[in-house]
Amino acid sequence: MASTTGKYMATFLLGLAVSTSSLAAEPVTPKLTDKLSRLLQEEMRSVQTAMGTIHSGMVMGQHEAVATNAQKIHDSFILQQKLTDQDRKDLMSAVPKGFIKLDKEFHKLAASLAEAGKNQNTAEQREIFDKMTGNCIQCHSQYVSDRFPGVNTLGK
Ligand code: HEC
Repeated sequence: MASTTGKYMATFLLGLAVSTSSLAAEPVTPKLTDKLSRLLQEEMRSVQTAMGTIHSGMVMGQHEAVATNAQKIHDSFILQQKLTDQDRKDLMSAVPKGFIKLDKEFHKLAASLAEAGKNQNTAEQREIFDKMTGNCIQCHSQYVSDRFPGVNTLGK
């Protein structure tokens, strides 16, 4: 009896370990050059500030604030800003395609959010804001698990 329970527990724990590890890809952070890391952290902090301002603007119907801050996020696209050819090469060799894809998707959503701000469409702003938050969580849980081990996609 005890050994059956033990076997069952072992299988359960193994399953848990496998499913948890498949959620988080290898973190990209240790592979970034100092410069890329610095630029990315700068970008992330301005994204964070802009998201806060957008949230307030959205719930108070300040569409102009939503539009300008979403546009700011879109324009901060690290892949199009401040990168020399060498930085670009460094970035491509440090991060997997999935990371680039997520970053592109995120910045594309920011452009849509700016549009929804201009159109004064609160429902659409909310929907896009939510999708963008999903992108933060997905990228951090998959690629920044070393810095943000607490972010998970359980219950997704
Ligand atoms: C495509 C991937 C990706 C997306 C999407 C993303 N992040 Fe990040 N984020 C990172 C990486 C990578 C780091 C760690 C950079 C480092 O430490 O070198 C980071 C770090 C951060 C940090 C810490 C910055 C610091 O000072 O060290 C904040 C805050 C942050 N992200 C906020 C956000 C928010 C808010 C969103 C969504 C609105 C978001 N991120 C979306 C990849 C992403």
